Amino acid sequence: MSSNTVAEFAKERNTTPDTLLQQLKAAGVDKANAADALTEGDKQRLLSHLQASHGSGAKKITLTKKSTSEIKQADSSGRARTIQVEVRKKRTFVKREDTPAEAQANAESMAKAVQERAASQELVRREEDARREAELLSHQEEQLAKERQEREERERREREAEERAAAYAAAEVAKVAEAKAAKEEEKREHAAGAAARAAAQAEARAKAEAESQAKAAEEASRAKDLDERRRKALAEAEAIRAMMAAPKKVLVAKKPEEPKKAAPVAADAKKPVAAKDGNKPAGSAGAANAGGGARPGKEVKSAKLSSSWSNDAGKKKEIKTRGDSSGGVAGRSNWRGGPKGGRRGNDRHEQQQQQAPEFRQLEISVPETITVAELAHKMAIKASEVIKVLMKMGQMVTINQPLDQDTAMIVVEEMGHTAKVAALDDPEAFTAEEVSNSEAEQLPRAPVVTVMGHVDHGKTSLLDYIRRTKVASGEAGGITQHIGAYHVKTPRGIITFLDTPGHEAFTAMRARGAKSTDIVILVAAADDGVMPQTKEAIKHAKAAGVPIVVAITKADKPEANPDRVKQELVVEEVLPEEYGGDSPFVAVSSKTGQGIDELLEQVLLQAEVLELKAPVDAAAKGIVIEAQLDKGRGTVATVLVQSGTLKVGDVVLAGQTYGRVRAMLDEDGKQTKEAGPSIPVEIQGLNEVPQAGDDFMVLSDERRAREIATYRAGKFRNTKLAKQQAAKLENMFAEMSAGDVQTLPIIIKADMQGSQEALAASLLKLSTDEIKVQLVYSGVGGISESDVNLALASKAIIIGFNVRADAQARKTAEGNDVDVRYYNIIYDAVDEVKAAMSGMLAPEKREEIIGMAEIRTVFVATKIGTIAGSYITQGHVTRNAHFRLLRDNVVIYTGEIESLRRMKDDVKEVKEGFECGIKLRNYNDIKEGDVLEVFEIKEIARTL
Ligand code: GTP
Ligand code: MG
Repeated sequence: MSSNTVAEFAKERNTTPDTLLQQLKAAGVDKANAADALTEGDKQRLLSHLQASHGSGAKKITLTKKSTSEIKQADSSGRARTIQVEVRKKRTFVKREDTPAEAQANAESMAKAVQERAASQELVRREEDARREAELLSHQEEQLAKERQEREERERREREAEERAAAYAAAEVAKVAEAKAAKEEEKREHAAGAAARAAAQAEARAKAEAESQAKAAEEASRAKDLDERRRKALAEAEAIRAMMAAPKKVLVAKKPEEPKKAAPVAADAKKPVAAKDGNKPAGSAGAANAGGGARPGKEVKSAKLSSSWSNDAGKKKEIKTRGDSSGGVAGRSNWRGGPKGGRRGNDRHEQQQQQAPEFRQLEISVPETITVAELAHKMAIKASEVIKVLMKMGQMVTINQPLDQDTAMIVVEEMGHTAKVAALDDPEAFTAEEVSNSEAEQLPRAPVVTVMGHVDHGKTSLLDYIRRTKVASGEAGGITQHIGAYHVKTPRGIITFLDTPGHEAFTAMRARGAKSTDIVILVAAADDGVMPQTKEAIKHAKAAGVPIVVAITKADKPEANPDRVKQELVVEEVLPEEYGGDSPFVAVSSKTGQGIDELLEQVLLQAEVLELKAPVDAAAKGIVIEAQLDKGRGTVATVLVQSGTLKVGDVVLAGQTYGRVRAMLDEDGKQTKEAGPSIPVEIQGLNEVPQAGDDFMVLSDERRAREIATYRAGKFRNTKLAKQQAAKLENMFAEMSAGDVQTLPIIIKADMQGSQEALAASLLKLSTDEIKVQLVYSGVGGISESDVNLALASKAIIIGFNVRADAQARKTAEGNDVDVRYYNIIYDAVDEVKAAMSGMLAPEKREEIIGMAEIRTVFVATKIGTIAGSYITQGHVTRNAHFRLLRDNVVIYTGEIESLRRMKDDVKEVKEGFECGIKLRNYNDIKEGDVLEVFEIKEIARTL
């Protein structure tokens, strides 16, 4: 039955009559109470109204949920508190835009609804008719019933339509859901998912928004903080400025009656007083400081001061005034200090300003030493000016006195110029009149080629073949022990060769060889391959950045394997040209001469690429290759001229030594008069033996050369002393930590500077934690008496390498038992020193068990004490042996045997299987069944 009143319809729709009445009212159907009848038309209007307000319009529904709960929590005082917790959740469901399928479905249902509506209108009409007919024709009940049936059907549909509309309104979704068709169910699920997603998105967005807001707020607060600080700083600055300004104003404003107060300096001078006095009126400040009576005087002083500051000539007066004022204004010196400094600064500034028109700032390059006169000359001032500056610095100097670089640089800076350190090898820096090498014409020069490689790989033999000489066969021990320099004329030009030693001791020589060369010939024996010093040579060559030509020597030998050597060199990153590298590889033999021409060809090819040039007509410069002290000739240095021409009579400065070239020999020992670039020569005439590797240069003035050499020597001495002291300290600490460290003091005298250096390095390397080699002195030349005396004083042994002691020295050495040893091969020297050091090592003590004895009876002899009647079960027992007393295999005591007896006789030894009486030293607590383990302590000499 269809509902006909408001109340009935309300019940049907599961709502209250009041709500329905309101809805009806909103739909424009005027019904006053629940009992009022409802027509189909009324219901239709309500439906269309509801559809309009919910179904099509609403796209977004917001649900708010509130839940409250209680939490019980104890507070700080321990009392339980109930906290009301209210959780509010807000969810917004947004209706999604319809998908095409849904839209179609919607359209269909809409069309259906329209049809139904049309049908329902028809039905309404028919109902009206039927009612009318019923009134008129009661017998047409059957039709009416049918009509009712139809109406019921329609109403059901109407309800469904209404419910579908309501489904869009989320508030009623749950109620209608069950009644809905499966399709609608699906749709709803869809909508719910979308809504949830939308909600999640909204939540995330809200969170992000909240975060960014929080960040913005933080930044704002920081900015505000900064702003605040800036404002504060500004305020402070303002306050300070105000404070600074205030006293000035006070002074200027309040002392207009004083005649000279306007002078700004005077005002400045007073400023601190006023400031100190807390802005008192200046008049009273002056009075307070100087006393009433002193006031006029002080003002006069101020006036004087101001005049002296503005006028340079009043300097003396100023000083005098200061002196006076210090008496008059006692206790003010502490604040006066500031302004005084300022005045001085002003003073100098003014001075400079006055000089400004004529003053030209120069860049002065300061050499290692320079005389006062030269320095003055460089700065274009009188020497007396320099002397004055130095006097102010507390140095009394004469016009010809050399100054060291540091002092000279300070003077230069003091005079307002800029000082720069002159390059060491720059003759320009030494004397102005020196002819610069760069001015001379650059001409092609011969290449300097260093031969390097492992010991005995055939370097010297190779050079011998090239030079048609026999150096190698004459060498002591068959090894090269110093650098040899030779120049060879080949059909295609001159080549200068440096032969280096391959023995590991000569690292420094090899490094020097690589340093002064243009090309390196790397020698590797075809039967031996890459060895440690081959690798080292590669390192030196690479460090020097010079091209490498590889000579695989001893190619004539049956066991030669040049390919293996090649592979090994590739591993060391020396790449042959055929592998895309830049090193030509040539297999050579010094026996057959195989490959030597090709090797020279390759070397000259490399040299051509380098386009080597040097000035010829210039003062010579170069490097000391080797140096020695010859008995007859004095100091002899082998030098390689690198640029310019060295002539007999030239003044040479070489490291810390200097001298005039007295004589010059070429490598064959023939006298020559001059040597051009790339030519090695021996020169005589240096005052001392220079260090191998030192640079040399020709100077025009012997005095200058001496100056520089002396200065360098002094500097060297200082650094050496400093180093020695450091070493001593180091030793002290080392000794402190290492306990008793033995030292072996050594004095080395050698023929060549290079050998001495190599020997010293090799011997020092022998030091161990227990024994240190201490190099007392090492030098070039024969062994003199003073060397022996030094050895005597320091308890050192003297090693003479290729040198001998002179008669006097020999006598002193013999008389005082000084150990002098002579060597001519470096490894012999090293080996012997090593042996000597081994002898110094404390011998190692080792226990050796010699026998076992079982104690079978214990008896006490009246005069002797407790005696162990023993049976030797193993080995033997000696009288002086040590023992360990074992009881049940546990060591009870360790000690020495005091006496050993067989029968009644003292014996030295008792053998296995015999019985004997053993008396133990200081030990009597023995029992039957104890075992004596008898051992001896053997000392074993140790080696290094
Ligand atoms: P250090 O200067 O001490 O490093 O040695 P080194 O490289 O100068 O070797 P040196 O020329 O003294 O030769 C060492 C040995 O190898 C000598 O016995 C030579 O006879 C021998 N030797 C050198 N070159 C060749 C060669 O091409 N063929 C053969 N069969 N033997 C050679
Ligand atoms: Mg050699």
